[in-house]
Amino acid sequence: MSWADLNVAIVGATGAVGETLLSLIEERNLQMRRLDLIASERSAGRTRSFRGQQYRVHDLAHFDFSDVDIAFFSAGTSISQQWARKAAQQGALVIDNTNAFRMDADSPLAVPQVNGDLLGTRPRSGIIANPNCSTIPIVRLIAPLDRHFHVRKLIVSTYQAASGAGLTGMEDLRIDARQTLSGAQEAPHAGRFKVPLAFNVIPSIDSMLDTGFTLEEQKVVQESRKILRRPDLQVSATAVRVPVLNCHSAAVYFECEAPLDRQRMLALLRDAPEVTVYDGQGNTPFPTPRFMGNANHVHVGRIRTVPDMPESGWFWVVSDNLRIGAALNAMQVAEQVVAKGVC
Ligand SMILES: NC(=O)c1ccc[n+]([C@@H]2O[C@H](COP(=O)([O-])OP(=O)(O)OC[C@H]3O[C@@H](n4cnc5c(N)ncnc54)[C@H](OP(=O)(O)O)[C@@H]3O)[C@@H](O)[C@H]2O)c1
Repeated sequence: MSWADLNVAIVGATGAVGETLLSLIEERNLQMRRLDLIASERSAGRTRSFRGQQYRVHDLAHFDFSDVDIAFFSAGTSISQQWARKAAQQGALVIDNTNAFRMDADSPLAVPQVNGDLLGTRPRSGIIANPNCSTIPIVRLIAPLDRHFHVRKLIVSTYQAASGAGLTGMEDLRIDARQTLSGAQEAPHAGRFKVPLAFNVIPSIDSMLDTGFTLEEQKVVQESRKILRRPDLQVSATAVRVPVLNCHSAAVYFECEAPLDRQRMLALLRDAPEVTVYDGQGNTPFPTPRFMGNANHVHVGRIRTVPDMPESGWFWVVSDNLRIGAALNAMQVAEQVVAKGVC
């Protein structure tokens, strides 16, 4: 099977992740038999120009997936809970970007560079889940370190961009920043954030759980254990929203069974696929979200060992949450299943 034989649908095509998927299809020059763009009734009937053709946006509520080979879902967890199983039952292989199926035993939680071996057969559920946008870059760096040094503990602090809350999140940050800079008298604009984000940081993303951790923090814990196949891994996280438009960052502390060696760590990370390593030298000693280079790479710097704790190290990771953390991971999953003839 090749892409030219496939019918592909994008649910959430008008959103931040959906738009990024369309950019990737264009950049990769993927030619498919049919491409359906799907969103809510709010966008249904609108047309979207793509590669010189006009596409009408379909309403998910009235869409039939029986003719679809691959359906990308990125329209929110509740939408996936309601529709993804139906799409899979109608025959589509669903690649889901939401939180709906990540911990489902019948749905692989896939990061092709880490556990791509799971993508050789159609999953029982017909659904392949994509991890959370902060988890993906972290496991892509921890996996090679784990193989060599055996990681036993991970402490993660994330610095997450406004785009993690979709197109509206980015617009909310722009509005609040503009109003604040102009000295407007009106109340600061919070939009979909819990408090206004411009010139601020917010230590709370997604809902608060009884544990005192947020759902976003719990995702990092549960998902990294599942992807790395390390149920014993000790993991804890604090997830923070920062006034950056796009690209998430994280400071990651890790503790291993074996003593660390910085040169070996650098070599392992340089060998990891699609990773750019910053060694503290030159004009760009470390990555930053605003000026990150290749958006299809995970960027890692500040790689260091702790002087008095030889089994402990840190790194700083930056990656495009819309690409690495969502659309690109989903696209790379699709490319593997197509190459392996799974759909
Ligand atoms: N942003 C990220 O970095 C990121 C990373 C990983 C995963 N995700 C997940 O991906 C999903 C989408 O995120 P996003 O950032 O792209 O959000 P977004 O920019 O807000 O886009 C949401 C999309 O969902 C569609 N939608 C909303 N309600 C719908 C309904 N009832 N039926 C059909 N379509 C509906 C919207 O269509 P309309 O235009 O018609 O409203 C729009 O296309 C979320 O579950 C998010 O958690 C996002």
